[in-house]
Amino acid sequence: MQLFTQQVIQLLAKPLAEHLNEADISQLIEVPKIATQGDLAFPTFRLAKLLRKAPPLIAQEVAAQIESEEFDVTAQGAYVNFFVKRPVLAKTVVGTVLEQAERYGSSEEGRSQKVIVEYNSANISKDMHHGYIRGLMIGASLDKIARSLGYETVTINHLGDYGINFGMIIVAFKRWGDREEVERRGVSALNELYVRFRREVEDDPELMTEARQWFKHLEDGTSQEALDLWTWFKEVSLRDYDLVWQKLGSQFDSFAGEAFYSDMMPGVRRELIEKGLIVQEDGAELIDLSSENLPNIIVTTSSGNSLYITRDIAAAKYRKETYDFARNIYVVGSEQRLHFQQLKAILKKMGYDWYKDIVHVDHGLIMLAEGKMSSRKGDVILLNDVLESAIERTRKLIEQKNPDLEDKAEVARQVGLGAIAFKELYTSRIKDYVFDWDDALSFEGETGPYLQYTNVRCHSLINRGGQMTGEIDYSLLNDDFSNELIRELARYPETVQSAFERYEPALISRYLIGVAKLFNKFYQQVTILSNQPAEKIARLALVRAVSTTLENGMKLINMEAPKRM
Ligand code: ARG
Repeated sequence: MQLFTQQVIQLLAKPLAEHLNEADISQLIEVPKIATQGDLAFPTFRLAKLLRKAPPLIAQEVAAQIESEEFDVTAQGAYVNFFVKRPVLAKTVVGTVLEQAERYGSSEEGRSQKVIVEYNSANISKDMHHGYIRGLMIGASLDKIARSLGYETVTINHLGDYGINFGMIIVAFKRWGDREEVERRGVSALNELYVRFRREVEDDPELMTEARQWFKHLEDGTSQEALDLWTWFKEVSLRDYDLVWQKLGSQFDSFAGEAFYSDMMPGVRRELIEKGLIVQEDGAELIDLSSENLPNIIVTTSSGNSLYITRDIAAAKYRKETYDFARNIYVVGSEQRLHFQQLKAILKKMGYDWYKDIVHVDHGLIMLAEGKMSSRKGDVILLNDVLESAIERTRKLIEQKNPDLEDKAEVARQVGLGAIAFKELYTSRIKDYVFDWDDALSFEGETGPYLQYTNVRCHSLINRGGQMTGEIDYSLLNDDFSNELIRELARYPETVQSAFERYEPALISRYLIGVAKLFNKFYQQVTILSNQPAEKIARLALVRAVSTTLENGMKLINMEAPKRM
């Protein structure tokens, strides 16, 4: 309803001229949740205080002074309510959607501001299991949403490519590994070596000593062999991960991961000491965070090693210096909530006022019926297999239902992956949920395929409608079904904005389902391809606006929109 805010401000400006300026009015205007309370509403509490009068009295006085062709204006309790008249609503909303087309819902509010979206942050040598889908979808979606709002984004995959694990895998590879097998089977072979190390080390603690040595070599750069193996593990892993990223259309601007920051550790340590933030305890160095009501945290171990948090301190500083971000978003599971609270608190204590711009976008877990997936034990479902399987299942469905469809393989890809994307982004990000195949791929109810199908229906109407020329008479979109649908279309830009403000793509998914449902009601109740040409033209204009909105929205939640299915 933001499309009408400016007009409402103008209407209020005159009667309120002595008390409030336009900026004040603009701040006070609300979009009521309930339709009977108007499309926009102005609360009079603030005026009531100023004028020492009862709010309902003021509401009545203000309403009485407003005359408008575009709005019905009424006083209800303490509010002045504005109802956009139907023809005005239709003309403004549908007209705007058609004119702005793929730009409808986008804006310039983020212009010349940079937003970092860190997501996926895969752990090298570990399988990319199905549990990663959540963060991948949220991250990719927030990237698109931010860009549509005019922000410049930088996507970062903060690789987990550092730590004692790499010592373990080197030991395992040298003992039990086979180069050719790793080349052939990729990251899964590396993951198995890691799992085997974990198993064998229980009976042979000596293995751990070896692993430490190899990691030390890596850290100090004292062994070319260690470095070569690490580099190769990374190549093999990225090659496999890329299969997933390609399918999901994820693109990363930077892969600066933990190892990238290892050189900066001495500098971080020095700075923490100089700023008086370090407390010694049993040979380790820690930061006291009690003033922030958080547990203390070790930043250097007693053997002088940096930790996960230390590398994150370096990474945050590096990102600020390199990108001068307006926001630095980390899409990471909610089990790391404390970690990011501590990171923020440390940066605050270091005197960086941009600590406020650090945002942990946390999300819940996906569980299999049998429990959380663990790459340590090796009981995982690979994400790539899930995606392949979604495409394959969809292909079979198409084969049954619509065997003559052109481009079957392409549509199966769009619909299968769309189903998965939607499933991930329909549940609020913070909720855990249990993954279920049939549910994820169901084409009924609130699903991705339902959205896609609704949009296909729009396209088929547009095609059947034939060439359209002539003025659109918006006053013909006067029935309740059209009106309700148009009202919903008007909410799209503000939905995209809140999705970004709350880092919650699910707001867009739910919104789109709402549009699809209203459209399908309209489709059933109203003869769209009316034999009255003027009616047909107006209704098809609305259909085009629905399709544009659905397509724009689907793009933001990582879905493609086939024209046929
Ligand atoms: N690789 C880490 C993990 O799997 C996640 C990294 C999150 N990002 C960060 N900047 N700490 O636990």
